[in-house]
Order: sequence, then structure tokens, then C-alpha cells
Amino acid sequence: MTPARRSGGRASGSSSSGGPRSGQGKSSAKRPAKGPASGGTKRSFKGPAKSAVNPSDRAGGKASSKAASRAGTQAPPKTAAKSPAKKRAVVDDGLSRGGGTVAARNEGPMRVQRALARAGVVSRREADKAVAEGRVFVNGAVATVGQSVDPARDQITLDGAPVVTKVQLHRWIVLHKPAAVMTTRKDPQQRKTVFDLVDDVPGLVYVGRLDFMTEGVLLLTTDGAAAHALTHPSREVERTYIATVRGDAVEAARQARRGVELEDGLVVPRDVEARPLGNRRWAFELTIAEGRTHEVRRLCDALGLEVEQLVRTRFGPVRLGALPSGGARALTRTERDILEALIASS
Ligand code: URA
Repeated sequence: MTPARRSGGRASGSSSSGGPRSGQGKSSAKRPAKGPASGGTKRSFKGPAKSAVNPSDRAGGKASSKAASRAGTQAPPKTAAKSPAKKRAVVDDGLSRGGGTVAARNEGPMRVQRALARAGVVSRREADKAVAEGRVFVNGAVATVGQSVDPARDQITLDGAPVVTKVQLHRWIVLHKPAAVMTTRKDPQQRKTVFDLVDDVPGLVYVGRLDFMTEGVLLLTTDGAAAHALTHPSREVERTYIATVRGDAVEAARQARRGVELEDGLVVPRDVEARPLGNRRWAFELTIAEGRTHEVRRLCDALGLEVEQLVRTRFGPVRLGALPSGGARALTRTERDILEALIASS
């Protein structure tokens, strides 16, 4: 095997199974999920030519501010002011911009005091007291402190009155994020944000960030816990990107398959492919199962590729398809079911 072109590549290591997680997308796992292949490539990231800084796309925000500042400058400010397996019952509410999906989330078993508090009938402290005083019954039997209940199934009463647990409703949207849009709730520089492109609802959050100049699939949901779970590295949710690049993409793909050592660790894409676009440009398509800050741009930089455009075409089961730039749609039932399964997995 040809040695990596750049210094510092790891020479050995184990590979994990790393096949595609069920239902995440096509069965495209041509590479191990993680663990160094022989001869990783290493290089410091000098920063994308045209991208802007973003905070971490990874749960837990591992990326350093150093990495962020190296990753390039922010885009110029805008001149004008901007304009256990959980089951969810699903209702499509037919929202105007990008639709929206409302999912009623059964949160599963929880302590009886919590169920009372979530139902909004008493405060958490009052719930503790009520259970301790024997005023709470579960399925006809007096409840004990800390007893586990499933509000969707168990009949709970407080002082003889049934307790109806509020159903949590959640919305799931996929946005085709255009370039030059911030993935943030509020930009101090008044640039356009992803929330300018969707019908905003309280509690709507994005599922991992895309760089200012990166385009493509961005999920948004009102289910903060799910958003956190899906971006956690342990879930290994696959993301597919197509970078339009200049450089020796064939050699870069070959090296990428062996793994590339970045400053924050080795990256071994699950799938890499280079397709000629003409005019010395290439479509460099890769699938990774994590979301480190500027990961694809840093990877391309380490491989000597100049990125002209970066598009995320898939996040887990959700594909960009024909969704126009700036457009949004509700997730399909199948997409949600697969996401549910990923969230439930550990
Ligand atoms: N990798 C990047 O470099 N940028 C993104 O926006 C997403 C992944």
C-alpha cells in the first residue's frame, strides 16, 4: 500500500465492525466504521478557503475554539437587519413552510412523583409529599415513593381524581440549508439563520450544526433530547457529504479509505468515492458516522483537496432528494421510525 503522503499517519490499529446501522441509508459501508486502517494521513487544518466558523457539531461540543478559529473566518456581517424503544403517535399538522410533524411521545416508565409533576397537577415537591402521604394510587393500589409507572398505561389518581399525563408533542423538519446561512438561534452579526427559513415554534432546535457555507440536510425538532441523542457520537448516525473539490481526488479517496489523522483523532470514512465533474473538478462523496467540527473540510484539507462547495445529502435515513435549497418538509413516517430506532439504540 502506498504510504500516506503526509506525516504522522498511524500505522496500525484495530477495525470495528462498522457496518451500516440498520435503516440509516443505503448499504454503503465499504469501510470500517472506526479504528485506524493502516497508514492514516495526518495534517493540521489550515482552514477552509470559503467556509465560516461554526461551533461544534458534536454532542458535548468537543471542538476547541482553536480549531474553530483555524477553520476560517466568519462570513461578513449582513448589512441590513435580517429578515428504551419509545413509541410516538404521529400526526401531520400540514404546516405551511416545510410542513411539520407532530409526534406524541410516550416517554415510557418514570417515577410516580415525576408523572404527577409532568401532568401539571402538582409541583414536584408537592408530588413527593402526596405520595408519601398515601394520597396517590396506581391501578387502585396506594403508590409508594419512587414507584415506577408508565403514564400511558397506568391509571394514576391523586386524592381520588384521575391524573391525565400531558402528551408531549414534537415536530420534525428537514431543511435544505442554503450556503451563507447560520445554524444558530441568534446571530450577533444579524446574518440569516436557519430559523428564518422555517416556521418557528417554541423549542425548535437543530440536530447538529452545518457550517455557514455548508448546504444540505439539516434536521430540526422540538424534541431536544432526541436532537442530543442523534448527535451523540455513540449513535454513529451516518452523514453523507458531497464536496465539489479541486485536486487529486482519486488519490485522496484512496488515502481516505485508509484513514486520515486529524488533530482531534483519526477519521475513517465508511464510504468514499471520487467522480469527475469535468474542468478539473471532482465530486468527492464520503459518508462518516460522527459530526466533528468542520470535519469534512478538515479532511479534504488534509488530503490536499480544495473544497468549492460542500453539501450534506443525508443524515441517517433522511436524504436531501429533490428538496429545493431553502425548502423544508416534514419527515416521513419511515424516517421518523428509523430515527426512533437510532435514538433507542445505545
Ligand atoms: N463537515 C464540515 O466540514 N462542515 C460541515 O458543515 C459539516 C461537516
